Amino acid sequence: MPKAGTGAGAGWYQAVATVVITATVLALVVRIVMARRRTPAAVTTPPVRFELGPAMGAALSFGAVPSLSEANPGDPLAVVRMRIVAKHPVAGGIVRLRLARVDGRLVNPGYAGAHITLRLPVGVERQYSLCSDPADRAHIDIAVLRAEPSGVGSAHLDDAAVMGGELDVIGPRNNFLLEAAHEYLFVAGGIGMAPIRAMIEALPPTRAWRLIYLGRTRSELAFASELEHRYGDRVRVIVSTERLERVNVAAEIESTTADMYACGRAPLLDDVVAATPAERCHIERFVAVDRDTGAERAPVVVVAHSSGLRVDVSAGLSVLRALQGAGLAIATSCGDGVCGTCETRVLAGTAQHLGSVMSDAGKDEIGVFYPCVSRSTSAELVLDL
Ligand code: FES
Repeated sequence: MPKAGTGAGAGWYQAVATVVITATVLALVVRIVMARRRTPAAVTTPPVRFELGPAMGAALSFGAVPSLSEANPGDPLAVVRMRIVAKHPVAGGIVRLRLARVDGRLVNPGYAGAHITLRLPVGVERQYSLCSDPADRAHIDIAVLRAEPSGVGSAHLDDAAVMGGELDVIGPRNNFLLEAAHEYLFVAGGIGMAPIRAMIEALPPTRAWRLIYLGRTRSELAFASELEHRYGDRVRVIVSTERLERVNVAAEIESTTADMYACGRAPLLDDVVAATPAERCHIERFVAVDRDTGAERAPVVVVAHSSGLRVDVSAGLSVLRALQGAGLAIATSCGDGVCGTCETRVLAGTAQHLGSVMSDAGKDEIGVFYPCVSRSTSAELVLDL
């Protein structure tokens, strides 16, 4: 007999209790599974060493889009001592390094697409795009490809980079600024994923975007599994050595009105540039484009506006070297027209752009000039020096 008023011993009561308990347990299991799926650090990286940036980064880094000059304030020569606080492989031949300031202060503010310049102990400087959320100023992450396209620096860095090791860092600096748009198409090739990943981190969740990520083997594609897991069919990974795939990508680019942001090796970027209207095309190169036309260079007079100093630049000398020889302090790094460190402003005259930072139209639009490689088509060029 069941006790009066409880019904606990009745068959119907036990059946209902069983259903309620089972449903509660199932709900708990579903919550735990969903929480784990939403925790990106559980996908590819140890949570203590490389947790991903917080969503608030979007608001901080993308609320107002600065101009390139606003995005690169301060002394371009300023060097900050930073310490390696984490090192972790993220793909075949690629390690991710996390750097924090030795003095414990916040990292200088950067914007998605920014890079830093590392002064390596072997006496060379190398630029590395930030792959972390730019709003996370406690530290910065870079992805280092041992077999870098531009020389030996990264292999040395990978060998020498040990936990607690210190490096001289310049920047962040940004020549690849993420501008406001309704829709984005990101195209990344290999290590070119680094700045694109920072852009994806910085975008508000409501913004429409897709990513095409190309590489020769999947094992060489850093962050591929993580991005697929987090963003589903927004991410398309293409593993192929076939040029046909690039042709297909170009066709896809031509069929969209999205703003294009691309980073990777030269053949891929050349295809992107050919397929995208200039006003929607944003690319960043690792290696300088050979823009030598074979034509003899004309001498030019460069005028430093603030002092009125006139500097004769002979045909065989770069504008940068001539200005430095005249005693003007100009920051420089790559010397090849790729990093943007030597950027100056044109106040009068006509620049002959020979660098690989942004499009020539973009340079003219904001009036910037890279004297390490560029010249002038006018006999005189007045720079904001
Ligand atoms: S020093 Fe790198 S662009 Fe001039």
